[in-house]
Amino acid sequence: MSTKPFIMDHPLIKHKITLLRDKNTGSKEFRELINEIAMLMCYEATRDMPTKEVEIETPICIAKASVISGRKVAFVPILRAGLGMVDGMLELVPAAKIGHIGMYRDPATHEPVEYYCKLPADIQERDIIVLDPMLATGGSAIDAINQLKKHNCSTNIKFMCIIAAPEGLKALSDAHPEVQIYCGALDDHLNENKYIVPGLGDAGDRIFGTK
Ligand code: PRP
Ligand code: URA
Repeated sequence: MSTKPFIMDHPLIKHKITLLRDKNTGSKEFRELINEIAMLMCYEATRDMPTKEVEIETPICIAKASVISGRKVAFVPILRAGLGMVDGMLELVPAAKIGHIGMYRDPATHEPVEYYCKLPADIQERDIIVLDPMLATGGSAIDAINQLKKHNCSTNIKFMCIIAAPEGLKALSDAHPEVQIYCGALDDHLNENKYIVPGLGDAGDRIFGTK
């Protein structure tokens, strides 16, 4: 059985995604929004991090308090657009290591083509959050997670996107049922060019100003 996707319902995330969708939002503001949304989503995606009790000394007394424990974390953005989410994630988890998987969709077939993969040497020992603002057909996310599994990462992989299409959500859940998916918003459908409707257009182009 697959894990139920977590669709964000926080008003701040909804508001910021509305600004992202607006075609009049320029690259500078778009980049800022992507990072802010990633940071807010990171708060939810790290909710199950284990903690342990330690003893500290406050200016008043000795006290027991909680710190994060358990496995270390790696963020793996899918290039290019996933890069836009990394700084926001690092704001909350500065010690995380970053892996990169380069993938683009063939414009004719819409199938993902992998062109780069560089992961931290100790990736198998880390909990992983794969980052990509868009989950359209799901092909890129599925292949990126296949690649992680080829590197023997199989324990705790999460996938975080800002906008998902129902088609991509289903494909990813079917292919990797154990992967917890976090979405900022769930949209209506894919159009004939496999773009998300209503979506926000081409995330990579809007982040990097390439169109
Ligand atoms: C976009 C997006 C995802 C992919 C989603 O990347 O950032 O990686 O499409 O589509 P899918 O779910 O159908 O695979 P794109 O291929 O445009 O590459 P880019 O980030 O280099 O622009
Ligand atoms: N990639 C994007 O950047 N946007 C979409 O709507 C689909 C794939």
